[in-house]
Amino acid sequence: METFEAIRTRRAIRAYDPTYRLDDAELAALLHAARHAPSAFNIQHCRFVVVKDPALRAQLRKVAWDQAQVTDASALVVICADMAAWKKDPARYFNGAPKAVQDQMAGMIRDYYMGREWVQRDETMRSAGLAAQTLMLAATARGYQTCPMDGFDYDAVGKLINLPDDHVVAMFVVIGKATQEAAPRVGALPDGEVILTDRFPG
Ligand SMILES: Cc1cc2nc3c(=O)[nH]c(=O)nc-3n(C[C@H](O)[C@H](O)[C@H](O)COP(=O)(O)O)c2cc1C
Repeated sequence: METFEAIRTRRAIRAYDPTYRLDDAELAALLHAARHAPSAFNIQHCRFVVVKDPALRAQLRKVAWDQAQVTDASALVVICADMAAWKKDPARYFNGAPKAVQDQMAGMIRDYYMGREWVQRDETMRSAGLAAQTLMLAATARGYQTCPMDGFDYDAVGKLINLPDDHVVAMFVVIGKATQEAAPRVGALPDGEVILTDRFPG
């Protein structure tokens, strides 16, 4: 599928065929596509928790406003991110580059993140958003439907998936075969309100 068509046809889908099985190789291909999403300093903050256990899926649904797609979609991916990735042997994010480059980048990473807790957290959300959209577009291109989700209790989800203390949950992405088409798009704001030139009106 052509990129613009994938962007245009991706919709947030809520009704899925619970009998449809997405095979492991196909899901792995989608996740590897998502791993090509950019991250600042190539830190690769994101951790993709693929929830396969049906009992855990049911528990997650309970803390996600009982939204059916949590159990009915073929795949549920909890996109998490490591807020402390910046200090976990950062030279490895440049493995394969010359040692001087690895050392230089590790220093830049330390200077950028050290003592800036808001940046440590904000960067995880930027990375996770890009990864989620990349995952959804890859799935769309392969003929699946998706839904990004944050309608859930973050603390409860964290407990259920054993989230480490220095990680955050960013969102869910579900992937599967729709049983219902999306309703026509509504509510688009005018371009003039959302696309600006140079600066906001003074
Ligand atoms: C961060 C985020 C969280 C969302 N959470 C939910 C959710 O919990 N449940 C749901 O059905 N849709 C959720 N959505 C989907 C939005 O409602 C949907 O993207 C929006 O209405 C636009 O529709 P479209 O994606 O079909 O263009 C979420 C979207 C985003 C980006």
